[in-house]
Amino acid sequence: SQLNNFDMIIFGATGDLSMRKLLPCLYQAHAAGLLHPKGRILGVSRSALDTAQFLAKVESDSKIHVKKNFTDELWNSFIQRIQYLTVDVNTPEHFGQLSELVKARTETDNVIIYLSTAPKFFAPACKNLADVGLNADNVRIVLEKPLGTDLVSSQEINTDVAQYFQENQIYRIDHYLGKESLQNVLPLRFGNVFFEQVWNKDFVKSVQITIAEQLGVEERGEFYDITGALRDMVQNHLMQMLCFVAMEKPKSLGADDVRDEKLKVVAALKPMTSADVDKNVIRAQYTDSGSLKGYLQENNVPADSRTETYVAIRAEIDTPRWAGVPFYLRTGKRLAARSAEIVLNFKEQENGLFGANPNRLVISLQPDETISLKLYVKQVGSGLDVQPAEMVLDMGKVSDDRRAEAYELLLREVIDGRLGLFNRRDELEKAWEWVMPILDNWAVSPIKPYGYAANSWGPKEAQDLLARDGNAWLEDQA
Ligand code: BG6
Repeated sequence: SQLNNFDMIIFGATGDLSMRKLLPCLYQAHAAGLLHPKGRILGVSRSALDTAQFLAKVESDSKIHVKKNFTDELWNSFIQRIQYLTVDVNTPEHFGQLSELVKARTETDNVIIYLSTAPKFFAPACKNLADVGLNADNVRIVLEKPLGTDLVSSQEINTDVAQYFQENQIYRIDHYLGKESLQNVLPLRFGNVFFEQVWNKDFVKSVQITIAEQLGVEERGEFYDITGALRDMVQNHLMQMLCFVAMEKPKSLGADDVRDEKLKVVAALKPMTSADVDKNVIRAQYTDSGSLKGYLQENNVPADSRTETYVAIRAEIDTPRWAGVPFYLRTGKRLAARSAEIVLNFKEQENGLFGANPNRLVISLQPDETISLKLYVKQVGSGLDVQPAEMVLDMGKVSDDRRAEAYELLLREVIDGRLGLFNRRDELEKAWEWVMPILDNWAVSPIKPYGYAANSWGPKEAQDLLARDGNAWLEDQA
C-alpha cells in the first residue's frame, strides 16, 4: 500500500521512551521499507544540543536498543531523517522557531506531534503549539501515559489538551493495543463461527486476565512508588484486554464503532463500594526471596510504603451477555514468569456422556503468541474413556511475516491517521471512574498490602479470591 509522507516531532526526544522505544521502532519501520522516503523526525527537548550532538546521543543511547535487522547502511540512512531543535515548553519564542523550522523543511501536511513528556508539560506545550498554528486540523497529537493519576487529574489533562486539539486529532497511546495477539481477539471472535455462540454467561464460568512480569521495579522506584500496579497496569492495559474479550460485536471496524463498544464494556463494569473493595480486591507487595530484594528494600522506595506491586480483582460486567460471570484481573511484578494471557474457563457439562469436561481457551499475548483450546479426546485403547488434550495454534507459525513491536505498529497507525487503536477520552475517563473506589479505599484502609515471595505467583489471598467461587488461577488448574 501507499506510504504516507510525515513529519514527526518528538517532545522529550532525549528521554527514556524516545531512546529506548520510539527511535528504535521507527528504525525498524525504516529498515522494513515502511516509512515514506521523505518522512522526517524532529527531536525536541529542553537540552541545548544541535543536531550533531543529538545524533551522538542517539548513537550511544538508542542504537543499543535496536536488537534486530541492524545494518550500518540502514542505520545511516535512518538517521538522515533526524533533526534536532531545542524547545523549552515554557518558552513561547522556541515555538516560533519550531514552527519556522517545520514550515521550512516539511513537504507534507501530515504533521505528528508526539508528547513523550510528563503530563505537566502537556498544557503549556499545547498552548504554545496552538499559538503558532501547530494545532491546525492536519496536525495529530500523540499522548503518552500516565494520562493522570486519578479521575480528576485525567479530566484535567484531557480538558487542557481539548482546548487546543479536537478529539479526532488526539492519539492516546496504550501500547497493549499495539500487540498483535490482542488485536487478534476481534477476528478470532467475530471472524469465525466457533466462538461467538459460546462466548457468554451460559457457557463461560469465568474469565481470567493476567499480565505477569518477572522483573521488579528496577531503577524506577521513585516513579513506581507514587504509581503502583493499579495505575500502571490495570486502569489501562488490563482494561484494554478486558474490553476486547467482553465487548459486543461492533457495527463495523471503524475506529468509533469499535471504541463505542469498548466504552460500553467499561461503563458496564459493576461499580465497587468500599466493602466490595475489601472483599474483591487484593493488593500485595513482593518480599525478598533468595538473592532478590523485596519491594521495600528497593532504591527510592520508603521502608513503610504501601504501594502495591501486585493486584488481583474480581470484577463483574453488568450486561446480558456477562451478568454473574466473574472476571478475574491480575498483574504483578516479580512473579514466577513473564506472561500476558486471557483465559476463558467454560462451564462443566451437565449430563455429559463423557463426564463434566470443562473446556478452556487460553489466548496468550506473550512470551509466546498462542491460542490453546483444551479439549477432551479418546484415550488410546479399548473403551471410550477420555483424556484432556490441548489444541495449540502458534501464531508465530501462521505467517513468516515480520512481527512488529507494539510501538512500531502504533507509530505507523498514527502516520496513517487511523484512530482505532488509540483510546478515546470518554473510555479513558470511565476506566478511571471504575478504579477510583479502589484507590479511595486503599488510601484509608487499615488493611496493609499482603506479601508474596519474589518469584512466586502472588499472595495466597489471591488464590482464596478464586477458591471462594470454586475457581483457580491458570497455573493451579489441571
Ligand atoms: C508499562 C508499565 O506501561 O508496561 C511497566 O509502565 C510495565 O511497568 C510495562 O513493565 C509492561 O509492558 P510489556 O509490553 O513488557 O508487557
